[in-house]
Amino acid sequence: MANTGRQATSASNIEQETMESEDPKATRSTRHQIMQRKKRMEELLRSAYSSAKDHLSHFPHYNTNGLSLFLESGRGNKLSSDLKNYIQKLLKVNMEGPYGAEWPAEEKVKRREMSSSEALYIFVYNKESVVGFVHYRFTIEEDVPVLYVYELQLEPAYQGKGLGKFLMQLVELIACNNSMGAVVLTVQKQNTSAINFYLNKLSYNISSISPSKVYQLMGVTGQEKSYEILCKTFDDEAKAVLEES
Ligand SMILES: CC(C)(COP(=O)(O)OP(=O)(O)OC[C@H]1O[C@@H](n2cnc3c(N)ncnc32)[C@H](O)[C@@H]1OP(=O)(O)O)[C@@H](O)C(=O)NCCC(=O)NCCS
Repeated sequence: MANTGRQATSASNIEQETMESEDPKATRSTRHQIMQRKKRMEELLRSAYSSAKDHLSHFPHYNTNGLSLFLESGRGNKLSSDLKNYIQKLLKVNMEGPYGAEWPAEEKVKRREMSSSEALYIFVYNKESVVGFVHYRFTIEEDVPVLYVYELQLEPAYQGKGLGKFLMQLVELIACNNSMGAVVLTVQKQNTSAINFYLNKLSYNISSISPSKVYQLMGVTGQEKSYEILCKTFDDEAKAVLEES
């Protein structure tokens, strides 16, 4: 009897849940919650973008490993033509190899992305000129507010001196200060040294939204993309969606 009772109880629970899901009031309330969440996300992004000018206020300098550099923030739609030329030149130097045959198409995409009003920059200068930059954006990935690193590019002479690590730590701080759930980025599989840098040195993970993980989950074989999506999450919700789902 007890057993039957439990079954009856659980059956009625299921029935009730079914009825609730068909209840127009419940549907309205779910829709309301979704709208509220969307509004919160939009406010979060707006606020992150409006404080963009202050992101570097506490870290204007980098004086380590014999380097004496300073940082300046920038915005895609306000770049001088000198800076645009510089960005394109450095991208070609660093990325033509890892992209291989995909480079000509990718170069065009990157040129478009470079000048977007959503593109935020950290430029690194020595006494005379720029020596590297980060291009990042605040955006939503799978319903999670994230800081997406579009580019991290250093001139060859400035690589291997701790600057990349410092810039990523700065970006992570900016993400946390602006209530983002994670830092996300895309890296070419061919770029093995960058993958090693992110996974082994900075403790990033291959995200569950990365093509390799998605194909694996779907049991798709023989399909491959040339890139991985990596992430570092800062809260349980972001972790559940971007690392564990
Ligand atoms: C990838 C890149 C941003 C890394 O920045 P960096 O300043 O050279 O790296 P750092 O000096 O901060 O290195 C941090 C750590 O990673 C290690 N590391 C960096 N590059 C490495 C490499 N190529 N192979 C192995 N380890 C590497 C360093 O030894 C260091 O380890 P430590 O903390 O134990 O000393 C930089 O090399 C670069 O601009 N590369 C070309 C562009 C590029 O590939 N960008 C990434 C696109 S997604």
